[in-house]
Amino acid sequence: MDRLHYFVILTTFVMSTAVGLTAIFFFILYRRRSETQTTPHIEPAPLLEAAFVIIPLAFFLLWWVMGYRTAIGLATPPADAMDIYVQGKKWMWKFAYPGGPNSVNVLRVPSGRPVRLLMTSRDVIHSFYVPEFRVKQDVLPGRYSQVWFQAVEPGRFQILCAEYCGAGHSIMRGEVIVLKAEEYEDWVSAQHRGLATKQDGPPTALDFAPPLGNLVDQGRRLAQEQGCVKCHSVDGSQHIGPTWLDLYGRRERLSDGRIVNVDEGYITESMMDPFAKIVDGFKPVMPSFANKLAGPEVAAIVEYIKSLQSDAVRTGPSEGPAYAPVRGR
Ligand code: CUA
Repeated sequence: MDRLHYFVILTTFVMSTAVGLTAIFFFILYRRRSETQTTPHIEPAPLLEAAFVIIPLAFFLLWWVMGYRTAIGLATPPADAMDIYVQGKKWMWKFAYPGGPNSVNVLRVPSGRPVRLLMTSRDVIHSFYVPEFRVKQDVLPGRYSQVWFQAVEPGRFQILCAEYCGAGHSIMRGEVIVLKAEEYEDWVSAQHRGLATKQDGPPTALDFAPPLGNLVDQGRRLAQEQGCVKCHSVDGSQHIGPTWLDLYGRRERLSDGRIVNVDEGYITESMMDPFAKIVDGFKPVMPSFANKLAGPEVAAIVEYIKSLQSDAVRTGPSEGPAYAPVRGR
């Protein structure tokens, strides 16, 4: 990104200076010397004229190639990236880790590991911007957008909102804290211990707040409450809607013959706009959940669906990630 930036800036700077100086030089050299003087008619050589077109064109094409490759790299998170959910709202950033803690305005990540942010907004359009990481991505209500980065070394980096979103736009700031891998693990387990102690002992006000932590458990509960599981089985059996077992990552054939990859974006779209893509063999009977589910609730259901992989189910939670599913609860 930086190389492209400086290359474009330097080239245009040098060229505009050259054009400006040449113009000044010609103003003086060809100034009108008498009242009757006329300008001679000049035909440039075809070769010269071709050079004037081809050289700038070559630069523009080169920038396009460099920019295209950069854009593809920015849009393609590595397969082993860790996922963190982000919700923008007036005027703060909320972060939810699939296996554990939530946080507001502070995003802790390990260094040297690609991180993919799955982002949505609760109200208006925001834009997640970390200048030092050279990432900026719009965050939209009712949809998921993603961005990824890999922090090289520990440090603290400012998060800004780069889309005007109201009176508090300029204070919608946060911080990425990049920790060494060990420190990050320590922090995650400390958060888990904190959550665990909160659950025993006498009830406090916190017990009546919406539960923090495990998105998969939240998603499982929401799927019950919202009636998702009345139509979608989680054990592979066919029902009114497609089964959720092994849904994530599947290639689904649609009624119009198209094939879609089931990812976070597709699952979210199917909740918000169920008729957009109808899976072959199923009827368009699902109600829309737009405005019924908040961003983190959508994230929780998506994480629950992602957890329903038959391998993970067979091997059980001990072998899988900390948030592997428990069946039949
Ligand atoms: Cu959020 Cu500007």
